[in-house]
Amino acid sequence: MTFSFPISSRFASAPSSPVRDILSVLKRGGVITFAGGIPDPDLFEIDDLRAAYEHVFATMPGRALQYSVTEGEPELREQAATRLSRQLPTMASDIAVTTGSQEAVFLIGQVLLDPGDVVLVERPTYLAALQAFDLAGGRMVGVECDAEGMVPDALAAAVAKHRPAFVYLVPNFGNPSGRTMSAARREAVAEVLLRTGTPLVEDDPYGELRYSGAALAPIAAVPGMAAQTILLNSASKVMAPGVRIGWLRAEGDVRRALDVAKQAAGLHSPVTDQLAIARYLDRCNLDAHIAKVVAVYRERRDAMAADLAAVLPPGASMTRPEGGMFFWVDLDDDTDTGALLPRAIDEGVAYVPGWAFYADDPRRCTLRLSFVTSPPEVIREGLGRLARAFGWG
Ligand SMILES: Cc1ncc(COP(=O)(O)O)c(C=O)c1O
Repeated sequence: MTFSFPISSRFASAPSSPVRDILSVLKRGGVITFAGGIPDPDLFEIDDLRAAYEHVFATMPGRALQYSVTEGEPELREQAATRLSRQLPTMASDIAVTTGSQEAVFLIGQVLLDPGDVVLVERPTYLAALQAFDLAGGRMVGVECDAEGMVPDALAAAVAKHRPAFVYLVPNFGNPSGRTMSAARREAVAEVLLRTGTPLVEDDPYGELRYSGAALAPIAAVPGMAAQTILLNSASKVMAPGVRIGWLRAEGDVRRALDVAKQAAGLHSPVTDQLAIARYLDRCNLDAHIAKVVAVYRERRDAMAADLAAVLPPGASMTRPEGGMFFWVDLDDDTDTGALLPRAIDEGVAYVPGWAFYADDPRRCTLRLSFVTSPPEVIREGLGRLARAFGWG
């Protein structure tokens, strides 16, 4: 006999993430996946990471296996602050280590939102942020975006109308949009946020994976914005997602409030992983590793750009990402990409339907394609299958 637990109203109706659901279908094999933002495991720096873990176990096993402080190991906070200071002066005391940046997103929802509070987000935006803020009782409102990112006038109007608890942005190579917010747009968005005293959550897991164009400073680096921004970074996309290590930069009381939330959620991130990543950052050359990854992913981005442009039907548009992991396709017709997914999987290819990335009023004729997981010839084959499934050409 099964017992039926009374699930809280927050969770009883909460769907699980469509991306995670698609990933579980893919376990059956034979399917070329453009679905997850899954780094290519052949690129993991396995020898350096093994050496870092061995060092930790050889020199400080008792510490590595013991409980520790919530805000993170001092060595890792120091390394994170040094790396972030290339873009924005940062002290180790402003850093808190998180279990991936997803934990930071979840904790921010818990700490900044009361039920019914509004969060302004891009159209479209990162779906697991929508999920995390929703579970905290947030009401997400999508703000108009163009090729340069969130439109400042639309942001100003939405701030005036909704008095949001915060604005959530992924300015570099957005997930799912692949879009990068221009330097001018960063300034204009910061001007609105500063003028209205609106907090910013700036989520930047992809910024170092740039394949073309010049690097841009975070919005948090606009004068005055640092104190008003929680900036998120992650080891997932540049090192390895399985270590589940990320960090946030936040000044003052909010960092301490996030510590209290993290105590309740899990006490602290795994000490062994924190110490190993700190050792890696101290002794290994992450920049050289990123340069290798960038060279491989750039080739894949270029392959998908060319092959996708060749198969898309007239009227469709696609972003041309300068970095990150995703192309965003808008078919601008009455196609429902969610309804077509089973046919695509039967054809041997997977993607994420775009509807899931909208806070409101979803465009069902959109889809997200990740280009990082497979080499160019597999990308070409996968796009051929997609074209067959959708009846293009
Ligand atoms: C925009 C964005 N934020 C956060 C995350 C979470 O990453 P992690 O928890 O692995 O650092 C992702 C992962 O795909 C992402 O795309």
